[in-house]
Amino acid sequence: MSKKQDTLMKHIDGETHFPYRFENVEKKAQEVLPKEAFDYIQSGAGREETLSNNRTSLEQVKIVPRMLQNVGNIDLSVKLFGNTYKQPVFLAPIGMQKLAHPEAELATVRAAKKHGVPMIVSTASTFSLEEIAKEVPDHPLWYQIYWNERHPDVSINMAVRAEQAGYDAIVVTVDTVLIGWRERDLENQFSPLKAGYGLANFKNDEAFMSHLDGTDDDTIVRGIVENFAHPTLNWKDIEKIKKATGLPVIVKGILDPEDARFALEHGVDGIIVSNHGGRQLDGVIGSAEALPTIVEEINGQIPVLFDGGIRRGADVVKALALGADAVLVGRPFMYGLAIDGENGVSNVLEHLLSDLHVSAGLAGSPDVRTLKALKTRK
Ligand SMILES: Cc1cc2nc3c(=O)[nH]c(=O)nc-3n(C[C@H](O)[C@H](O)[C@H](O)COP(=O)(O)O)c2cc1C
Repeated sequence: MSKKQDTLMKHIDGETHFPYRFENVEKKAQEVLPKEAFDYIQSGAGREETLSNNRTSLEQVKIVPRMLQNVGNIDLSVKLFGNTYKQPVFLAPIGMQKLAHPEAELATVRAAKKHGVPMIVSTASTFSLEEIAKEVPDHPLWYQIYWNERHPDVSINMAVRAEQAGYDAIVVTVDTVLIGWRERDLENQFSPLKAGYGLANFKNDEAFMSHLDGTDDDTIVRGIVENFAHPTLNWKDIEKIKKATGLPVIVKGILDPEDARFALEHGVDGIIVSNHGGRQLDGVIGSAEALPTIVEEINGQIPVLFDGGIRRGADVVKALALGADAVLVGRPFMYGLAIDGENGVSNVLEHLLSDLHVSAGLAGSPDVRTLKALKTRK
């Protein structure tokens, strides 16, 4: 723990509670993190219109609650791809978590396990997918793939490794064919990828290493950076990933209903409506605005998950009322990790899930089915 973090925790202890308000969690994270790390986590691409559209599109949704529904026994468990999860909340894939805390994904996943929240592990994680799985035996994990265009065998091998390590599903992120124009990172001249925060899955990958002409970290980082963009990614590649394992394949980053239909036609098992937390194309539609059109197109044939701007229990209620089967949460848990490692993530989840419980009850929805049946207005 850094001196700054140590002092901050004493401060929090003095206050006797971890901040309840998301805005204060974010503020504390800003206090403990170096500027470039905080900017990397918080910022969006360009003018950050998309980042703000995510919140605005959620704020425009108004819940129409039901009364006298008997919410004495609230059970928000959800069945997805044959597995039952305790509640419809997942940790979004976030790479390079060492940015926030030295224990990175290991701290995050221990907190996730404590609350029964499945974690989606990024290709660019600081610890390898196997190390993370070993930290929490029997806890549900999904693995997120960034397609390696020049060497598809690397992505295929990573999917196979995830299956062998006991992961439940593969998520393929499709909105990163090029890396977004992130002005704050450019101003700070900061790239955690180049700093070597995300090389564990590559370093431990035989297929990846076989394409390099050296084994030192500099060579590995160069190999990652040079292969990060994947502008030719297409539906045939998704089919290749699908064939590589017996795991369900979920495509992350869909915003247009026509793409959702293509996903169905190519045998994809699930969709995540997402704009990458506003970090890719700026000016893009807010996730919550895109969600209903995709839910309509998919019409219950496969699960539709959602992320972008989820900060409180009522946000989860809104996403489910708009038709999502589950949501992913990104930045909030990274701020918790920055503030106090495992304990910080645990506090963030504790507050979010308690808030969700209360919000579902007040909406008259004791379960996911009734949450999804809620009406909304603009
Ligand atoms: C610092 C940071 C790193 C991220 N890294 C990844 C990643 O490695 N893979 C991925 O698919 N999405 C990544 N994302 C996007 C998240 O998975 C998710 O879509 C987004 O954060 C959700 O929005 P929210 O932060 O408003 O909850 C990242 C987001 C942030 C903030």
